[in-house]
Amino acid sequence: MSTNQSIKPVTTKVNSSGRLEIGGCDLVTLAEKYGTPLYVIDEKTLRSICNDYKKSFSAYSKIKMMYASKALCTLATSKIIADEGFGFDVVSGGEMYTVYKSGVDMSKVLFNGNNKSYDELVLGLELGVGRISVDNFFELSLLNEIAKDKTVDILLRITPGIECHTHEYIQTGHLDSKFGFDLTQIDEAVELILNEYNNLNLRGLHAHIGSQIFETSVYGDEIEILVKEIARLNEKFGLNLDEINIGGGLGVKYTGADNPPSTDEIAKIIIERLNSAIEKYKINPPVLYIEPGRSIISTSGVTLYTIGSSKQVPKGTKYVAIDGGMADNPRPSMYGAEYSAQIANKPDETSTLQKVTIAGRFCESGDILIKNINLPNPEEGDILCVFNTGAYNYSMASNYNRVQKSAMVLVNNSQSDIIVNRETLEDLVSHDLIPNRLI
Ligand code: LLP
Repeated sequence: MSTNQSIKPVTTKVNSSGRLEIGGCDLVTLAEKYGTPLYVIDEKTLRSICNDYKKSFSAYSKIKMMYASKALCTLATSKIIADEGFGFDVVSGGEMYTVYKSGVDMSKVLFNGNNKSYDELVLGLELGVGRISVDNFFELSLLNEIAKDKTVDILLRITPGIECHTHEYIQTGHLDSKFGFDLTQIDEAVELILNEYNNLNLRGLHAHIGSQIFETSVYGDEIEILVKEIARLNEKFGLNLDEINIGGGLGVKYTGADNPPSTDEIAKIIIERLNSAIEKYKINPPVLYIEPGRSIISTSGVTLYTIGSSKQVPKGTKYVAIDGGMADNPRPSMYGAEYSAQIANKPDETSTLQKVTIAGRFCESGDILIKNINLPNPEEGDILCVFNTGAYNYSMASNYNRVQKSAMVLVNNSQSDIIVNRETLEDLVSHDLIPNRLI
């Protein structure tokens, strides 16, 4: 079993006071100390999944582990992940700057994205990112121009044409996708790089097939396409491409219905198919980049909320409202995502279980966090702990309804440290200006 196959952080337990604790910290005490909604990240769980990945892929010596920082990008989490030996996939100036400020070795950073701006590319070169994954023809020419007399190591992002079974919005490797060069466009891109764009040094190919993936075979198919293309390009253009990046995508277990593969299972198929493709297409073993996001950070995170009002619709649903919702976790309303939760101050109580729907506090009927969950008599003041919120929660949070973004704490060995401050009311107005003529 690997850490992504667990719903809860690895240190979760019920303590002697009968309350939930994570990282040795009582969750009710954390809620009292830091307020709610509160994102909590368990350092042991984060390090544990990093180790799972490293162990599982150790059978391939040219592996380079990267973390897709779009899942969660903060100074402290970047530092831990870098400390575990990972590089970073970044997709904006903001992510790039954050990992830079956290002290990451920028040569281990890959800058990726389908419409990087001029300024972001300039920043990427200034900060010395190790690779830029070029997504389209426009960017090839733009980057070549910006590079001036520098040589930039690039990968080409390609669309391998693989459909995987996940939500349509988080599928990216199918043929009609906004990301990357179509397979039929690769040769033209390579010709341009070789003949016109002298500042670009092509190192290999990059693809990503989707997110929250439970199938293992799709990775094998993806590897086969990438190796075949590398072999073909090396042969046709006399190149020596030796890097492939297969993206991220491994799923996590949000509820008991989810059954994600372990890191061992995906590593096994990836390495097996890679080795057989290397033999079949007669290439030297390439550097293999893998850049998971969700499966690295999701399980280590939970969100604490305080329960407020309740409403029993006559002969209908019982709504229990919390002090957060779609602005701190937009995934249920965006993707119909499902989550598991427990009441932190009475996790083991079973005699009063009722089926309720957890409603967010935001002004939208669709702001429902969890439908039909069994909880022990949820009452005002109870602390609800929603599991597996480390990925794509804070990173997708908004200020809808002009509500301040939540704080984040890191827990480990009974210690808790704030790693993101709660926004203040002053923060909310700090970017606003009133033109003089209105005063
Ligand atoms: N590499 C590339 C090029 C990507 O586009 C992505 C995710 C990843 C790696 C990391 O994938 P992961 O291991 O996290 O599945 N907001 C959506 C997920 C969008 C994923 C976009 N790309 C969600 O909340 O489900």
